[in-house]
Amino acid sequence: MKIVTTISELKTAVAAARNEGKTVGLVPTMGALHKGHLSLVGRACDECKFVVVSIFVNPTQFNNPDDLRTYPRTLDADVELLTANTRADVVFAPTAQEIYPEPDTRVFELGPIAEVMEGKYRPGHFNGVCQIVSKLFMYVEPDKAYFGEKDFQQLAIIRKMVSDLKFNIEIVPCPIVREESGLAVSSRNVLLTEASRKIAPLIHKALKASVTLMTDHTPKETANWVVGQLNSTKGFEVEYYDIVDGNTLQTITSWNETNYVVGCITVYAGKVRLIDNITYKK
Ligand code: PAF
Repeated sequence: MKIVTTISELKTAVAAARNEGKTVGLVPTMGALHKGHLSLVGRACDECKFVVVSIFVNPTQFNNPDDLRTYPRTLDADVELLTANTRADVVFAPTAQEIYPEPDTRVFELGPIAEVMEGKYRPGHFNGVCQIVSKLFMYVEPDKAYFGEKDFQQLAIIRKMVSDLKFNIEIVPCPIVREESGLAVSSRNVLLTEASRKIAPLIHKALKASVTLMTDHTPKETANWVVGQLNSTKGFEVEYYDIVDGNTLQTITSWNETNYVVGCITVYAGKVRLIDNITYKK
């Protein structure tokens, strides 16, 4: 596996693969790799002859300087993990200067899907995600790019950007990977204190239990139940729980409003912001 830090080295490596007629897959990450990322890379390796993994903690998508500062950075361990467990061809690990020699002033008009949930609580976040992902798409020009369903709204935003900008790239959604306890794996899990780690699996437990409420409760009652369950646990503070149309990401008021219903949650476990989701119907 080759490790490159400049855009020109990256482009040279991809061009060589293209010359050999290889299909190209891209897995964008911010590092601190875990088995969720490995499942994305594994899928990319199954489906593409040449696989690029990018590792870059993108400053423009952080609206909280503390969050950016404390975000785990473990490049050596990431490279080891990829070498031992995947057949990825290239790791692209640029500096911020390489990606943003000038401030990126592009504004992505993403419409209502970007105004709710993460868009509401992390203003500017998705614009930053689109800035970095569009740059990676332009440098690599992959046939396929892989994203986890844990970041459900991010996936919808990237699909919208791909469709708006007419990128000829297939976006491949990959299922959430969970620890045995049910906790969705996340780079942020390493930041959990022992006490927070103990309660964190209750998030998925509450979401799963709430599915049974569908028969005799409205979406609003169901959402309130989830929030009540979690907020009654010491150490949790729910930021939002929205039960939404899985396509438009707008809150639904009745289960019959759409065939695709997803509940998206963000919870603070101590100081760590965890996100998860559950599909009620599809
Ligand atoms: O999901 C992430 O890790 C990041 O938002 C992404 C897509 C790599 C862009 O920085």
